[in-house]
Amino acid sequence: MEKIIRPESMERITTPELAQKFIEEQIAEIRAQVGDGKVLLALSGGVDSSVVAALLIKAIGKQLICVHVNHGLLRKGEPEQVIKIFRDEMDANLIYVDATDRFLDKLAGVSDPEAKRKIIGNEFIEVFNDEAMKLKGIDFLAQGTIYPDILESDGVKAHHNVGGLPEGMKFELVEPVKLLFKDEVRVVGETLGLPHNMVYRQPFPGPGLGVRCLGAITRDRLHALREADAILCEEFEKNGLAGKVWQYFVAVPDFKSVGVRDGKRYEGWAAIVRAVNTTDAMTATVEDIPHALMHHITYRITHEVEGINRVFVDYTPKPVGTIEFE
Ligand code: XMP
Repeated sequence: MEKIIRPESMERITTPELAQKFIEEQIAEIRAQVGDGKVLLALSGGVDSSVVAALLIKAIGKQLICVHVNHGLLRKGEPEQVIKIFRDEMDANLIYVDATDRFLDKLAGVSDPEAKRKIIGNEFIEVFNDEAMKLKGIDFLAQGTIYPDILESDGVKAHHNVGGLPEGMKFELVEPVKLLFKDEVRVVGETLGLPHNMVYRQPFPGPGLGVRCLGAITRDRLHALREADAILCEEFEKNGLAGKVWQYFVAVPDFKSVGVRDGKRYEGWAAIVRAVNTTDAMTATVEDIPHALMHHITYRITHEVEGINRVFVDYTPKPVGTIEFE
């Protein structure tokens, strides 16, 4: 892919007015490029693909076909939010694929982190390709490539979003936000009417909860992780930390410890809470979560989540620790 340089004259999009101007320009450009052709988009629910979807829906409506693959490793409520926003509210042409069993069956018994990543990445491409092959007359593939992706790589979005083009299918790319930085994509997203929590979502790895359910993933432990993580997110939102902390999540290791619940011996997993701040993810510092809040989160997780009987807080900066555990 050719290296595209953002013109120095291009004004940084910081206000809804500038975003509106960008949106109008892009709508005209997309219509000119696509004509009456059909466009396919892998919609992960992340910031970039969501903004591209919203932009394309405005420009070409049902000529856009969004495919949302649920790999079973998303946070609680995320697939539901994608369906609600795009299918119910924006009336998009959305194909929802619940591929949870496909992914979890392939991952069963696999404990090596890189092997897990590879399985998730490859399976994602396969599921997406299977859906693409069922469709007829697709000429274009939309991608949420943003300017840092072009600066940092060969221009093709490196992580999970698409991964590869279906074999034997030739698509022309539609990349309407490829000259924008992340903060600009967010302003455009809000101007397009996407919810704040979607547009300002914290970074989430492509392999999702798969690299936070440590070791070989089991469905019961993955479920416990998702519930504990949802409680952490809810408490961070309620207590004003959500917009302030760069990335926060729960990881659940694959060992149990002894505890007591309802007067009986109760073996359970630990929920490890990690909350970090960074600007570039190369180094990170640990957020000080107020003690009272951490006690409350611990109480909720250990009382509400089946299978969890302890909560730990990770105080390790990066380096030495990485942000994720695997
Ligand atoms: P680490 O753990 O390397 O993470 O300190 C740095 C940032 O990258 C994210 N991350 C990933 N993102 N696919 C992704 O799309 C991955 O496999 C992956 N691994 C880590 C991590 O969440 C953090 O923001």
